[in-house]
Amino acid sequence: MAQPKRTGEATGTSRRDFMKTSAVAAGAALASVPVFSVQAQETKRSFKAVLIGCGGRGNGAAANHLEAVKYLNDKLGWQLDVEFIATADWFQGRAEGAGKRYGVPTERCFSGGDCYKKALEVGPDIVVMAQPPVFRPLHFEAAIKAGKHVFFEKPSAVDPPGVRRVIEAGELAKQKGLCVVAGTQRRHSEGYNRKAMEIKEGAYGRVMAGRVAWNMGRIFTNTPVNPTGPDQLVGPWQIWVEMSGDHICEQHVHNLDIANWYLDSHPISAGGFGFRARRVAGNMYDFFSIDLEYPGGAHVHSMCRQVADCWDWVGEDFTYEKSKPGDFKLEAADPYGDAGYHPNAYVAEHAHLLYAIVKGQQLNEARNVAWATGAAVLGRESAYSGKRITWAEMFDDPAKNPAVYNLQLRPTAEDFETGEIKLLKDGDIRIPGV
Ligand SMILES: NC(=O)c1ccc[n+]([C@@H]2O[C@H](COP(=O)([O-])OP(=O)(O)OC[C@H]3O[C@@H](n4cnc5c(N)ncnc54)[C@H](O)[C@@H]3O)[C@@H](O)[C@H]2O)c1
Repeated sequence: MAQPKRTGEATGTSRRDFMKTSAVAAGAALASVPVFSVQAQETKRSFKAVLIGCGGRGNGAAANHLEAVKYLNDKLGWQLDVEFIATADWFQGRAEGAGKRYGVPTERCFSGGDCYKKALEVGPDIVVMAQPPVFRPLHFEAAIKAGKHVFFEKPSAVDPPGVRRVIEAGELAKQKGLCVVAGTQRRHSEGYNRKAMEIKEGAYGRVMAGRVAWNMGRIFTNTPVNPTGPDQLVGPWQIWVEMSGDHICEQHVHNLDIANWYLDSHPISAGGFGFRARRVAGNMYDFFSIDLEYPGGAHVHSMCRQVADCWDWVGEDFTYEKSKPGDFKLEAADPYGDAGYHPNAYVAEHAHLLYAIVKGQQLNEARNVAWATGAAVLGRESAYSGKRITWAEMFDDPAKNPAVYNLQLRPTAEDFETGEIKLLKDGDIRIPGV
């Protein structure tokens, strides 16, 4: 499938351009980054990396990773070196395409449902993952069990069991002293971090309410696919709920992450609506409008739309208890120390990952991205069902609402390995209230 260009049709603003400008506009704080091993501070190091998922973002992430090495070496006088030693993709051609770009011999370019296992067996230190979201919990868990540091793209899952699996694997990573960074770049932008630190230190009092949005034009194919095999699910994965989690999960997760971060929580319930106005391909909605309730009575309006020629807005706004006092001075130290912030947040996230590994710090974003993904799945299911759903029902208490707690979308990642794949139908969408 041709690589979709992620460009806001009405504004002509690419995701990357958006990140550059929005990074200046807002802010955010990493929780404190504990040091687990000071002996790890050897700054002349060679790492081996593998790439799982060799599409647009995977190739971009690999390039960002190498750029981050250069950035740290130039900025801090370190002598790091990273070599990609394997690539893995569902499609052999894509694995080899990335292999050629990053100097990986053909015999270490793997394909098929178990390509991730083969890549892990090659013995990397670091795994860079940008496969479709349905595969992330399984591949992430495998990488952590194998003792690898991970950069993984967002969202982290498509359903509640997947979200919980990522949280559990993230906890295992902590026990093993592994670093985990997610592709929620705002967490690696200076502006977002500053704002989060200010909120944490009480500059604005409580966060009372907010609105977060990813409203843009249509992206991805809108020609029905009529799948006859797995390739038609894996290729245009972006249009299938079971593969992407719907666009509220796949794309709007970035903005939901900011709501969670600034409110220092996950939503406790969601109620909202959505449907498809213009989409005919796949089985996703094309708009959602969700009320998220946070602890303490704060509400956040979450909006997302992929419909051309409508009001576009991508961002996050919050209403605070008070204005920041003119003489406010931040006390907290920057969470990323002298690594600073590469101006391109896509590079900064890799720089922060490598910095934490070298410094022996425990940087672990698994829970953050899982919570943001959880907020998206909660909102999505409230719209699909027409019901208000609580976080506790979906993620915490198996007895409260077992149908919601155990909601596992099919095909699963494992199904793609066994070959027992339920084919999906264009237009087979959920009808609220039914
Ligand atoms: N952080 C961001 O700003 C950002 C931007 C774009 C995409 N993304 C995320 O990156 C991920 C990939 O998106 P993309 O735009 O690169 O999509 P893409 O379709 O270009 O690439 C995905 C690649 O994964 C491969 N793949 C499919 N199944 C696989 C499997 N089982 N094992 C290994 N590889 C498999 C596909 O064949 C494809 O080459 C998605 O989760 C997406 O949400 C993030």
